[in-house]
Amino acid sequence: MPSASDPRPAIHVEDLSVTYRTSVERRPTLRSMIVRAGRRERYVHEIEAVKDVSFEVPRGSVLGVVGANGAGKSTLVRSIAGILPPTAGRVEVNGRVSTLLALGVGFNRRLTGRENVVLGGLAAGWSREELAAKYDDIVRFAELKKFMDLPMRMYSSGMYGRLAFSVAVNMDPDILLIDEALSVGDARFKRKSFRRMRKLCEADATVVLVSHALQSIKDLCDQVIWMHEGELRMWDEPDAVIEAYTEFLEVGEDAVTMEDV
Ligand SMILES: Nc1ncnc2c1ncn2[C@@H]1O[C@H](COP(=O)(O)OP(=O)(O)OP(=O)(O)O)[C@@H](O)[C@H]1O
Ligand SMILES: [Mg+2]
Repeated sequence: MPSASDPRPAIHVEDLSVTYRTSVERRPTLRSMIVRAGRRERYVHEIEAVKDVSFEVPRGSVLGVVGANGAGKSTLVRSIAGILPPTAGRVEVNGRVSTLLALGVGFNRRLTGRENVVLGGLAAGWSREELAAKYDDIVRFAELKKFMDLPMRMYSSGMYGRLAFSVAVNMDPDILLIDEALSVGDARFKRKSFRRMRKLCEADATVVLVSHALQSIKDLCDQVIWMHEGELRMWDEPDAVIEAYTEFLEVGEDAVTMEDV
């Protein structure tokens, strides 16, 4: 675990490129169907989702990531989380990472909330005592006491997101990666989550927050990167990046204050 005096940035991304390679079936033509007797040709489709991106995130700060759909934000975050290996370049992460990726990742919907939390805790290496102590904190923060013994398929998406967030922050991470997952919470829970994230940062944790909620990005982040077609288009203070990004989107800054919270 890094100490407070550790001078290294929490996250250092250097010349990172991530390419998806997918084997795709070529749409058969009548001729190829006859010639190949139904055997279809395959070819490899490549998408350069992240191209030569470099930046770093100082310990104890919040980095926002904005950009259009398909810009490469989730790919970048998955790469920082160690889920996707770099095709080129490198990612250095100094600290224990807790990830809160888009909905649908992490929990098994057939299991109850309680079972999911216990499994998650055991997977994170908690002892039974730690688990017992943290379990109550997790449930209290998520405000889901009445729902913990129901299978998670009976949860609303907001409830699912609340439990996910509560587990992630109670892991006491050095680095918290959040990809869109907060967008499902209601306004009150969102505010509560933001306060909690700030508290984590005061305790020297580092947060990476991917969101289309630009007002939240403005309120919460110390610096912001704007991803555009896999490239890092801008890396600066929140106000400057959001201004340039909203201009690019042609929605105007008014849209920033209208959306979310
Ligand atoms: N598992 C995958 N296999 C192949 N291509 C993928 C995969 N995931 C994403 N891509 C492609 O990589 C590019 C970047 O996608 P990514 O999910 O990182 O975008 P994003 O910025 O997170 O978008 P959004 O705002 O919609 O969440 C897109 O062109 C997408 O089609
Ligand atoms: Mg995404």
